[in-house]
Amino acid sequence: MRTKVAIIGAGPSGLLLGRLLENAGVETVILERRSQDYVLSRIRAGVLEQGTVELLDKAGVGERMHAEGLVHDGVELCFDGDRHRFDFRELIGRTVMVYGQTEVTRDLMQARDASGATTVYEAENVSLHDFDGDRPKVRYIKDGMEHELACDFIAGCDGYHGVSRASVPEGSLRTFERVYPFGWLGILVDRPPVSDELIYAHHERGFALCSMRSPTRSRYYVQVSLEEKVEAWSDHRFWDELRRRVDGETAESLMTGPSIEKSIAPLRSFVAEPLRFGRLFLAGDAAHIVPPTGAKGLNLAATDVGVLAEALVEFYAERSSAGIDFYSARVLSRVWKAERFSWWMTSILHTFPDTDSFGRRMQRAEFDYLVGSEAAARSLAENYTGLPY
Ligand code: APR
Ligand code: PHB
Repeated sequence: MRTKVAIIGAGPSGLLLGRLLENAGVETVILERRSQDYVLSRIRAGVLEQGTVELLDKAGVGERMHAEGLVHDGVELCFDGDRHRFDFRELIGRTVMVYGQTEVTRDLMQARDASGATTVYEAENVSLHDFDGDRPKVRYIKDGMEHELACDFIAGCDGYHGVSRASVPEGSLRTFERVYPFGWLGILVDRPPVSDELIYAHHERGFALCSMRSPTRSRYYVQVSLEEKVEAWSDHRFWDELRRRVDGETAESLMTGPSIEKSIAPLRSFVAEPLRFGRLFLAGDAAHIVPPTGAKGLNLAATDVGVLAEALVEFYAERSSAGIDFYSARVLSRVWKAERFSWWMTSILHTFPDTDSFGRRMQRAEFDYLVGSEAAARSLAENYTGLPY
């Protein structure tokens, strides 16, 4: 088999890249280790920056998002029971769209299936070869048979644990990492959200987040220690803990119910540099991870593949490598700013085991500054709704 761009991974990065390239007439094959159903069973954050919404529109998959997604003009931050709303539309004229990542993935999968482009699900033992020259290859096993895919380029969109980053020769890659000493315990519940907008809460017992998937389905999180086991958290215990961490009015209005999903996710910041090795590119979670505070993961993935698609289309249309040569530097400059924002949001909103009384006052001062200064609030607004690229 031969194609122009071999894409490893059918998460949002791989599927969106495939869609943008197919729309521009650049043929792709996607190789995905898991089944389609497995990919669609993953639950992840669902806040889309305006730029991501525009990119999904450009890709021709925005219809259901506009019909079912919820446009949010702002968010609320709550510190030890004091809640304050930040109105992004008023502050900087921008908004965000709440639409689950699972739904984005489903829309992209359906569009790809309808287009007839090849996606190989349950491709095992994917391995990358010869990307330091002009004729890269990808080998994999499907239904017990070995296959070889010849291509011009390989896009590594296979997430943090994928094979692409691991295939880069040792010594060519620099990595930067921070692992946080806590996780998020999240539940999904078929009850209306407690508020029209998201509430991020800091409390001395730990962080909490009130989020949503739709007008009838809510998503809530509480910070827990990494030693916690999900089995130790009955629904009752979860709701009790959440109520203690938010303001009184929110606690009273919470519509609780049986959870339909409950899991603990660790928090990590991670960046690999550079993001291009000959004819291999890294994009999305394969290239970088952010903690979920600020919901930048999917948005960064979208920006990466938006830039990569542009560069590859330019290569085929104009035989110019200017775009692909600039890919890594262009993407990384935006990635690091989103890393900073996610790290900062994480730092002010969580409780850390080693935070002393001075550190706690610093967190409070950050909140008071955001509330009292329009400049600080605008900075929050422009980062949350997405920096330009
Ligand atoms: N071979 C083929 N496919 C693989 C391999 C492999 N060796 N390893 C991983 N994959 C697949 C995974 O099964 C997954 O479907 O690559 C896909 C990567 O998808 P994601 O992890 O969703 O990563 P990405 O598409 O970059 O999306 C980033 O996901 O984690 C969130 O917050 C993050 O929203 C962001 C988004
Ligand atoms: C979510 O709804 O899952 C969500 C929302 C915002 C975040 C993180 C997660 O910052």
